[in-house]
Amino acid sequence: MALKSIDPTQTKAWKKLEEHFEDIKNVHMKHWFEEDTNRANRFTVKWDDFFVDYSKNRITQTTIDLFLELAEEVELKNAISSYFLGDKINQTEQRAVLHTALRAPETAEIFVDGENIIPRIHETRGKIKSFTNSIVNGKHTGFTGKSFTDIVNIGIGGSDLGPAMVVEALSYYKNHLTTHFVSNVDGDHVNEVLKKLNPETTLFVIVSKTFTTQETLSNANTIRQWFLQSANKDAISKHFVAVSTNIEKVKEFGIASENIFPMWNWVGGRFSLWSAVGLSISLSVGYDNFSALLSGAHKMDEHFKNEPFKNNIPVISAFLSIWYNNFFKAESEAIIPYTQYLNQFATYLQQAIMESNGKTVMRNGDIVTYQTGNIIWGEPGTNSQHAFFQLLHQGTKLIPADFIGFKKSLHGNKEHHNKLTSNFIAQTEALLKGKPKTEVKRELLDTKLSKNAQKTLTAFKIFEGNEPTTTFFIDKLTPQSLGKLIAMYEHKIFVQGIIWNIFSYDQFGVELGKQLASSILKELNSVKTKSHDSSTKNLINYYKNI
Ligand code: F6P
Repeated sequence: MALKSIDPTQTKAWKKLEEHFEDIKNVHMKHWFEEDTNRANRFTVKWDDFFVDYSKNRITQTTIDLFLELAEEVELKNAISSYFLGDKINQTEQRAVLHTALRAPETAEIFVDGENIIPRIHETRGKIKSFTNSIVNGKHTGFTGKSFTDIVNIGIGGSDLGPAMVVEALSYYKNHLTTHFVSNVDGDHVNEVLKKLNPETTLFVIVSKTFTTQETLSNANTIRQWFLQSANKDAISKHFVAVSTNIEKVKEFGIASENIFPMWNWVGGRFSLWSAVGLSISLSVGYDNFSALLSGAHKMDEHFKNEPFKNNIPVISAFLSIWYNNFFKAESEAIIPYTQYLNQFATYLQQAIMESNGKTVMRNGDIVTYQTGNIIWGEPGTNSQHAFFQLLHQGTKLIPADFIGFKKSLHGNKEHHNKLTSNFIAQTEALLKGKPKTEVKRELLDTKLSKNAQKTLTAFKIFEGNEPTTTFFIDKLTPQSLGKLIAMYEHKIFVQGIIWNIFSYDQFGVELGKQLASSILKELNSVKTKSHDSSTKNLINYYKNI
């Protein structure tokens, strides 16, 4: 069933939300905490090993109730069934959106064009498992008979960011293999990685859904040439494997059929780490951990599908995001994980969220009259506290932030973990309550500063507070909990797209730049420069020294 086109701003709930926004926009959250001692419990969802406290947001029960009405009016429930059933909700590309099927159990049945896709998914998982085992246990060796020591994932966008983020996030669970990622078409990137490698003991995984991506093919070709300086052509089959939907192109590249891991059109690149695109994850942490990652995601799928919206983590997260984006007119959202392991989490989410919801056209083809996709950014705490937190605390912009932390550390250093966790909790408290003038004055009184200096400094030391945060407190960073967390954001993206009445699963916006780059590349390689605006022409000529 096609998704309906419903302009959210024309719903009754949206109009009520606008009125409600006028009522509460200037209220300081502190007052709601004082009025209602049960506020934190009221706005906390406890699910599995997740404790999600969204009470430090500029909402009341009415806000949530009105969003629940909005969800009814935009028919969110039906949209969720269409998503999981494999309806072609990526309408502009006529494709189903079934990354959820990749983590469904073997007993499930999900049909695409009349075919149950679950057996093929599990067959591929079997292939990932046996390949992983043969590399990890050293049975599959390189061309000189040595076991592999290094893996290189060659891909970009969804064929890089998900695997790279997860490999780093799960590095505590990793085995003896060292995993590298080559993505940028910048030759310095691939050369820096090659510097560290021995061709005899390195396995290359070329990941490209289309197998036409300029960056990936250029890097793969460069690496193949480098490899062939030490080995002959027959050795390629031992050292190169590929993950793609485009079997023909992979074969043209010289990779044997048995070394191809399939991918499917009903999986979007940015949601593909659960497929064979995650091969480098499986190689790095072992198949059992890869499988646990998928089972965590499946658990979140079940939660999202079955939990009433009022306790549904992705649904509530999407409501909050829309509340700030469309009513408070916030432009961006920060993601702050309090673990160094999630160093690349915000980068990964930038593609997932911004490539999905950076759209201007409603599902009926009309231009939206409201804001859609948020700008996503972030860095781990506590590093980010010493970088951009000043602006969160005292800047002029409203920036809602997700704080993601873990009760247990992996290496068990309690002293460090208490310090980390105290920062994690304290920052959300500080952002909530701020520091009023009375408190600033009292603090200045205790200093040796002159009365005049105290007076001058007061305004600069005031924190307004009232800055929204949502805390995701998770028991421990494990493959399972990471799977749940990633899937949570995937479903949040879906809900936002449904409410914004856009198509979240195409990405036509990345095409124009690619087209122009390919025509400029031809000009860089010839003496002629075509007609361009004067700036573009100057830049081309400057590069060519004309
Ligand atoms: O950046 C555009 C994009 O199409 C992404 O959606 C995708 O993840 C990436 O390029 C890589 O594409 P491919 O896997 O086909 O090489």
